[in-house]
Amino acid sequence: MDHFLYRDGVMHAEDVALTEIAETVGTPVYVYSTATIERHFRVFREALAALDDPLIAYAVKANPNAAVLATLARAGAGADVVSGGELKRALAAGIAPGKIVFSGVGKTADEMALALNAGIGQFNLESEEEAETLSEVAASLGLTARVAFRINPDVDAGTHAKISTGRSENKFGIPHDIARAAYARAAARPGIVVQGVAVHIGSQLTDLAPLERAFTRIGTLIAALRGDGHALATADLGGGLGIPYDPARPLPPSPADYGAMVARITADWGLRLIFEPGRLIVGNAGVLLTRVIRVKPGSASPFVIVDAAMNDLMRPALYDAWHDIRAVVPRGERFDANVVGPVCETGDTFAMERPMDRVAASDLVAFMTAGAYGATMASTYNSRALTPEVLVSGGDWAVVRERQPVEALIAADNLPHWLVEESA
Ligand code: LLP
Repeated sequence: MDHFLYRDGVMHAEDVALTEIAETVGTPVYVYSTATIERHFRVFREALAALDDPLIAYAVKANPNAAVLATLARAGAGADVVSGGELKRALAAGIAPGKIVFSGVGKTADEMALALNAGIGQFNLESEEEAETLSEVAASLGLTARVAFRINPDVDAGTHAKISTGRSENKFGIPHDIARAAYARAAARPGIVVQGVAVHIGSQLTDLAPLERAFTRIGTLIAALRGDGHALATADLGGGLGIPYDPARPLPPSPADYGAMVARITADWGLRLIFEPGRLIVGNAGVLLTRVIRVKPGSASPFVIVDAAMNDLMRPALYDAWHDIRAVVPRGERFDANVVGPVCETGDTFAMERPMDRVAASDLVAFMTAGAYGATMASTYNSRALTPEVLVSGGDWAVVRERQPVEALIAADNLPHWLVEESA
């Protein structure tokens, strides 16, 4: 459930008309709803109520805006980070270091040192080579890293290939069948303490079965590691639970279904469970608000050219992702249209032959479910400035990232001395 509803014929974010935001800030602009973020976090926490003190470490990559992080920090969230930059953002938002988990295949020694000095809760290691580096960095700093290995369970998550991570051919984690040997070697290294296991098989999962298969494999491994003498304390079950994008399709499993499955599979593990939801928390909490520049005829349906483009919302171009497209002030008519941006690529297409609200030049349009992997994946391709972001709370709203002038983009480039001399 989200808080983007029509009132008096105008789509609102909570109590704020999207027309007001568009007129004040301009378009395109991302708009997030505090109540929706908080609701999703609460629903997920309640779905895990049967577990003993789980840690919900929000996957910062889904939406790292400082205001979004601060909202989640206030709600009690921890953070799953995958870079030194995300770690700094999580700390700046006031997330307690002990609630931060560091994932990712390519942590550098500098990033490890940053995280060790901050005192984060857990490093999720993705290779033995990484364990070796972390051990060296921790020992040189006189600190101890608490670690888990991310296990690649070799299950097919049944999601888009580009966001599937749990197959043996993917770059993530260590193979399930070498895990016991890897734990034995890691336990002998200085500077690291082996405290857990971790798994994450992919994103936008719409079926619990692959998750259940992965967790069951992890359960077997936990028993074997205990038998080998490891004192385990945590199991990180990753993120990945899907959300509804297309109202015409069956709903993905609910957080309650997920929580019940987890409680059943992990009942005898006796470990603190960690979760890394990203999309589930923020996906439906954001829309990308855009204005129709013009409508031009197409060979079948017309092209609706909007002022947002693939650089602002990459998901359709990158994953053929489907986003609901609605008029902010519907005219009460429908038509079939192709919705495209101004970027000079055919891939800059949000929808083809889409039945949708009829719109005309200068109408406002909302791309729904754009709160996760939207603004954060934006680029400045075609010298388009990064999209600003707005956070709504009740009847109040604030610009939480300013629109960057194109001049700032130009000013960020330097001319080498030989070109300066020439133009002087
Ligand atoms: N934990 C780890 C280790 C991850 O790699 C991810 C996502 C998550 C948690 C959070 O997954 P979520 O709960 O959000 O599904 N850009 C793509 C999604 C990439 C997901 C990458 N990893 C998209 O727009 O669909």
